[in-house]
Amino acid sequence: MKKTIALLPGDGVGQEVMRGAVHVLRSIEKRFGHDFDLKEFPIGGTAIDLTGSPLPNDTLRACQNSDAVLLGAVGGPRWDHSKMRPEDGLLQLRKELGVYVNLRPVQSMSALLERSPLKSEIVKDTDLLIVRELTGGIYFGEKKRDVDRAEDALVYHKFEIERTVRRAYEQARKRKGKLTSVDKANVLESSKLWRSTVSELATEYRDVVTEHLLVDHAAMKLILKPAHFDVIVTENMFGDILSDEASVLLGTIGVLPSASLRDDDFGLYEPVHGSAPDISGTDSANPIGMIMSAAMMLKLSFHMHEEYEAVERAVREVLNAGYRTADMRTSRFQSVSTSQLIDQVVYRI
Ligand code: NAI
Ligand code: MG
Repeated sequence: MKKTIALLPGDGVGQEVMRGAVHVLRSIEKRFGHDFDLKEFPIGGTAIDLTGSPLPNDTLRACQNSDAVLLGAVGGPRWDHSKMRPEDGLLQLRKELGVYVNLRPVQSMSALLERSPLKSEIVKDTDLLIVRELTGGIYFGEKKRDVDRAEDALVYHKFEIERTVRRAYEQARKRKGKLTSVDKANVLESSKLWRSTVSELATEYRDVVTEHLLVDHAAMKLILKPAHFDVIVTENMFGDILSDEASVLLGTIGVLPSASLRDDDFGLYEPVHGSAPDISGTDSANPIGMIMSAAMMLKLSFHMHEEYEAVERAVREVLNAGYRTADMRTSRFQSVSTSQLIDQVVYRI
């Protein structure tokens, strides 16, 4: 299959981990006989330095003309005081591309159990997917500010809830058949609309078990009993907070991938972590979040399931063989560099 993929490495460790995705895609291409057209474009601080804009027109156009986009990370102290912010490039990109739903899988890996701050009996059976509404809610509502009064509007339209919840149900159908919808329906009108919309859709997805949880209860349960969950669907701000909370279950943010999608097969795929300025340039960043983001692209945008499995299996084997970047290291293992870990994954594919 021929596919055009825009690569946006961005800043800091984004550049370092993107090399992992590229090597992995080249090895998948060879093994399965595909033709991936990979081209790099600047975004974020790197793009500000080169062109004066965090999202140059050429980059946006290339993304719009691609089958999928892979992004590393943007930002860093170098641009913290510049007039233009690298992060604005990413927000603008998501909005321009219309990717309204964000998928974040969190699955425990036996090799990482020792790194989790929670007991391994609690985290060992974690296998959940957070489905977060990405382009509505309080982050996009009207804002007002006086000296001693501030206002943020939390607005949801039914169609925004419905299209996100449908995606979540489709995922639940392919997974363990359980959907937990998270809201604050005892207090918020937008949550009442959220809950009634989910209840309506539940009648169309009778093969999936539907459960409603209030967000405060969900926050507790995520730590007390993560294995309770299969698919969690929620609005923008609750999803933002719960997905950071869930990332702690695994003990490092460096392994977590994400996908931002719309109604066609197009997707924007990026690791959950940022540009990690504290370790950038030392060849020590964990490339697994980026590599698994590329794997999600193979599965969700290109429907290449066997290829996805090949990457996932290679990553698991590398961890089981004891290869760890510094963020995954425990006393039993020496750490390896980003490049060494990438080489190991590629070798196994
Ligand atoms: P961060 O995710 O970059 O780093 C948080 C901590 O996790 C740091 O100690 C870092 O060393 C570690 N870490 C992150 N990725 C890692 C990896 N692959 N391997 C090993 N360790 C890793 O978040 P932080 O420090 O809050 O933000 C740094 C910059 O990144 C800021 O400019 C921020 O705006 C930007 N950022 C960008 C994101 C994006 O591009 N999607 C997301 C989050 C932050
Ligand atoms: Mg966040």
